[in-house]
Amino acid sequence: MNIAIVGSGYVGLVAAACMAEIGHQVICVDNDEQKVRALRDGECIIHEEFLPELLKRHGGTNLRFTTDLPAAVRDSSVVFIAVGTPPCETGEADLSVLETVCHDIAANVDRYKVVVVKSTVPVGTNDWVRRILIRYGASQKQFCVTSNPEFLREGTAVTDFLYPDRIIIGSDCGRSRMIMEQLYEPLTTGAYAQSEGAIPIPDEAPLPAQLITTHTRSAEMIKHASNAFLAMKVSFINAVANICEVAGADVSEVCDGMGADHRIGNKFLKPGIGYGGSCFPKDLMALHAVAREYGTGFHLLEEVMRINEDQRKFFLRKVRSALWTLKGKRLAVLGLAFKGGTDDIRESPAIAMVRLLLKEKCQIVAYDPAAMERTRQEFDDDSLTFAESAYEAARGADAMLILTDWEEFSILDFDRLKRELRHPIIVDGRNMYSLEEMERNGFTYVSVGRPDTVATANDAAIKERKTEAA
Ligand code: UGA
Repeated sequence: MNIAIVGSGYVGLVAAACMAEIGHQVICVDNDEQKVRALRDGECIIHEEFLPELLKRHGGTNLRFTTDLPAAVRDSSVVFIAVGTPPCETGEADLSVLETVCHDIAANVDRYKVVVVKSTVPVGTNDWVRRILIRYGASQKQFCVTSNPEFLREGTAVTDFLYPDRIIIGSDCGRSRMIMEQLYEPLTTGAYAQSEGAIPIPDEAPLPAQLITTHTRSAEMIKHASNAFLAMKVSFINAVANICEVAGADVSEVCDGMGADHRIGNKFLKPGIGYGGSCFPKDLMALHAVAREYGTGFHLLEEVMRINEDQRKFFLRKVRSALWTLKGKRLAVLGLAFKGGTDDIRESPAIAMVRLLLKEKCQIVAYDPAAMERTRQEFDDDSLTFAESAYEAARGADAMLILTDWEEFSILDFDRLKRELRHPIIVDGRNMYSLEEMERNGFTYVSVGRPDTVATANDAAIKERKTEAA
């Protein structure tokens, strides 16, 4: 099928590359000329596993990039809208870009098209899209608006798209539903997974993908409610972790015990410094605003957001209690991205921690495998410098903080670290290590929802002497 995808952000670009991968002719549209030029030149503008391969495989053939929205719409039978819907100051989703795009699409609906809303939008938005398309001149008979929310996670976006838990098609029109079913057929029949050169299927991915059809408004709600529920799980376990800490329980054991119940499951039960990213914070606020608008209220979400905010303050308190005073302390910070596997620092709790620590007049040497360049652009502060590795960051630091769950931070060489650090102190905001391991290796280890381990006086004294001698 000929598909246009409007917007080449995380969702748009991944969807475009994956649609090309499953055999469609795709044209991806963006109004940012520089971005389009980079993509045409074969540059992969985001850090995402398998995306460079797909861009290389399909770029210039069945995946093209343009700034010409009218032409792209005219040439396509399915038009996906994947533009950003950032939060307004009041928390509602800002739909102004979506409206502008609808205006441009409307003028170019010259034969039947399915207009698919992939952007995350409040319930009722698809109806607005339909009304706006008509208002700007599209004939009612020549299009159908369909909701097809995206559930991909940054870092695993390509495999999430190609091997999804579910595909949601929200449509109130049979013709568009049929077209959407055909579009996704390579995934729902499992044919793509069997094809030569297919991106490998992750261990737990369901095959074939199930496609669920719903009413448009239900599809919109499914997306918002899913993200809100996952964020609630994270805040729930963070609140439990805080009780564990005071009560002397170990939240890792609690998670294992809770997660073994299939009704609860062990996913999204990892405590830490809170959730971040471009989706959860924004979508929670948007759903909260929707509930306010409809007069039902959703106070639970306020608590979820509050717990998330508090988690950062609690972590700062931990760092302080591990070091006594913060002013002038040199800290190695491992991780800046909002989670491992991405270079995205939007709403990153790690970045929020860095800001709080700079305010406390700490000297920070940060290392992140992918997000340093973006962080550099955000800060203009001599107290924040960057290192090329975790060990370089640790050199001469009073303590090391782990703020992002990159896999490489879970396999650090302890002996080397101890040689580099001034004191063997790790404050871990992502619970990357077992207490036994840290105790055995002689670290003062402070994590979330678990008892601290304390380096023996002997270890610390030896270290102190070594540092002084050096
Ligand atoms: C999230 C959803 O998981 C996707 O299904 C959805 O498509 C996407 O938002 C979106 O709306 O576009 P993403 O933002 O990439 O995906 O990140 P997640 O993997 O969901 O993590 C969100 C945050 O929660 C991260 O900061 C992560 O570190 C944190 N988290 C996650 C925890 O603190 N503990 C956990 O157990 C899980």
